[in-house]
Amino acid sequence: MKAYHLNSHAGAARLEPVEVGRPEPGEGEVRIRVEATSLNYRDLITLDRAGQSGLNGRVPLSDGAGIVDAIGSNVAQWHVGDRVAASFFRDWVSGPFKSSYVSSSLGGNTTDGMLAEYVVLPAAALVAVPAHLSLVEAATLPCAAVTAWHGLIARGGMCRGDTLLVQGTGGVALFGLQFAAALGARAIVISSSDEKLARAKALGGSTLINYRDTPDWDVALMKATDGKGASHILELGGPGTYDRSLRSVASGGKIVQIGVLTGFGPKPDLARLQWENADIIGVTVGSVEHFTAMSSFLTEHAIHPVVDRIYGFDDLLDAYEHLRSGSRFGKIVATL
Ligand SMILES: NC(=O)c1ccc[n+]([C@@H]2O[C@H](COP(=O)([O-])OP(=O)(O)OC[C@H]3O[C@@H](n4cnc5c(N)ncnc54)[C@H](OP(=O)(O)O)[C@@H]3O)[C@@H](O)[C@H]2O)c1
Repeated sequence: MKAYHLNSHAGAARLEPVEVGRPEPGEGEVRIRVEATSLNYRDLITLDRAGQSGLNGRVPLSDGAGIVDAIGSNVAQWHVGDRVAASFFRDWVSGPFKSSYVSSSLGGNTTDGMLAEYVVLPAAALVAVPAHLSLVEAATLPCAAVTAWHGLIARGGMCRGDTLLVQGTGGVALFGLQFAAALGARAIVISSSDEKLARAKALGGSTLINYRDTPDWDVALMKATDGKGASHILELGGPGTYDRSLRSVASGGKIVQIGVLTGFGPKPDLARLQWENADIIGVTVGSVEHFTAMSSFLTEHAIHPVVDRIYGFDDLLDAYEHLRSGSRFGKIVATL
């Protein structure tokens, strides 16, 4: 079978198709024929680091969906032909996060990801694809959608009547927006593009702010909420957005700290949290349990992920560059 390995050549990262043996499932494991994968901002960071610190030869991408093709011993919950997606952390099935799960993130530093024709994973690391979704749509869920679900709903308790701020129109942001719209929460969207804001409106965004034209978007948000602020904030920017997020949070509100779009290491002045009795929720994706609960919600509300463009596995470097360009609206998918 074919797998794709990260490699660096003359200082540039590349993906090499490699012929390898088809893996056999052992006890408690399942083999999946991967039909679709999707890209996240994390995959760009990983690609750019390829060649350093042992990433050479690693199979990238956390996100993928496919069809169960073979089953090892002692697996009761899956059958050949089932449609499944893999959870981001292979070993985080349920309960609170443990730092020991980090090394099991698919397509990360130490565990191969989904960019292969077949993968073998523990049966407990898989989630059934909702019946209303295609495998292309399901491949967009494991990282971005579960992160938004875990932060906003499982931990943040977002519900009808709340006000959500989403930063930009990337993967995590659009899932957050769709969840808010389904729950009856108000969604405030900031974006660099009026065209993308118009598309965000069609998904349920009610207050739309262009952060290029209005760099003081926190002031605009406060005005639009009569000084109350947002009860939930998807903090995706990092150092370039964090102080404005703090100035946008409502009394008793929650900042869901997720992103590094403007770099690592925000050094914000956290005093406002105290005066507003607000919280920060730190999130790294989520568990199989989060993914399963979110899948039921997607089914209940007939939510379809927004897919921007579909590439072939062999054109994936073009897909990475499309992701880097920032021109897309929705998830970038690659199919076999
Ligand atoms: N903690 C976790 O577990 C976790 C999980 C998933 C993602 N993340 C992080 O969350 C962030 C978003 O991930 P993603 O995969 O959704 O990214 P993505 O799809 O690549 O999103 C990129 C979009 O972010 C928006 N953006 C960029 N700079 C911005 C800024 N200064 N202010 C507001 N919006 C800005 C832009 O939207 P417009 O084009 O509309 O301007 C851009 O198109 C990344 O930093 C990623 O590493 C963390």
